[in-house]
Amino acid sequence: MPVIPSMKGDGFYDQHSKVQEQFILSSQDLLEEAAATIPLPAAGPIGLADLGCSEGKNSLLLMRLLVQMIRQRSKLSVAVTHNDLPANNWNGFFRNLTPYGPGIWAQANATSFFLPVVPPRSLHIACCYSAVHWLSQVPSVPHPKGVLFALMEPESRELLAAQAALDWEAFLKARAEELVPGGRLVLVSGGNKDGDVAGIKMYRLLDQILQELGHPPFVMPIYYRNEQEICDPLERCGFQLAHFRIQHLTTPFAEQLKLDSDRRAYARSASSFVRAWMEPLLPDPRIYEIMEERMAADPEGTEVANVQIVAAFSRL
Ligand SMILES: C[S@@+](CC[C@H](N)C(=O)[O-])C[C@H]1O[C@@H](n2cnc3c(N)ncnc32)[C@H](O)[C@@H]1O
Repeated sequence: MPVIPSMKGDGFYDQHSKVQEQFILSSQDLLEEAAATIPLPAAGPIGLADLGCSEGKNSLLLMRLLVQMIRQRSKLSVAVTHNDLPANNWNGFFRNLTPYGPGIWAQANATSFFLPVVPPRSLHIACCYSAVHWLSQVPSVPHPKGVLFALMEPESRELLAAQAALDWEAFLKARAEELVPGGRLVLVSGGNKDGDVAGIKMYRLLDQILQELGHPPFVMPIYYRNEQEICDPLERCGFQLAHFRIQHLTTPFAEQLKLDSDRRAYARSASSFVRAWMEPLLPDPRIYEIMEERMAADPEGTEVANVQIVAAFSRL
């Protein structure tokens, strides 16, 4: 069973994850609704968790926002859990972890989020941002033709879809154990809307680069689900849909390009954004050098614009 590595460390992910920060800021309505509607315990603590926290800059922003929202309603103690894989840059995370303030207890947990990460019924709000599209493992795909499921032939695509379905159920069941009845799961993830798949132009470019470099066949351990794939198992896993939308966000660097037409700066930022999560899987530096060149030559044709699922689920 291949182990999925974490993000590029040494602060690189933190420096190049403005796109993911935007996703947090653009989904505050769901956080506010969750904070306003969850049933509160009689005597605390209120349990919050961020699943897939990486080096922490974005995770701490997210959890601090949520704590502020909770504080409008309650002065009870709050337990915040930041979770990620054992391979995460935890040293970097703990350097980022300045105190939250009185009554807020932070802890970190290095368990896969496809398993429970906190005790049963101890969580009131679970968040998972830009992380649940990562698979727990890559099924054996015979002769894959493209790096991403969406670029593969149907047989391979189905194998990845089946793994993604198993993972999503495991994820929901783990959260169902942890959340109190009425607790919320808030989710932002790359998505697939009628074949419009997160980052697809960039994945096509990657395919081309790997072929040019004579790289052996590679399967990206990522699956971007569609609405049906997200919603189908909800009830049998103990959840009810509270909110679902698909968001198309451009990137901060694409917006900057419109203002200054600086293709070099654009390509550096766009390729670094990709490198921050891809390099542990594909470490050859030439991939990112070529990617940067091609992105500068054709920003539109290689853009990393995102199709995002923004959703909230209520524990039954
Ligand atoms: C793109 S980063 C997102 C980080 C942060 N949530 C943000 O919004 O910037 C995805 C994170 O999910 C983590 N991740 C992937 N699979 C995981 C799993 N099974 N359990 C826990 N964390 C996981 C990765 O290690 C990585 O740190």
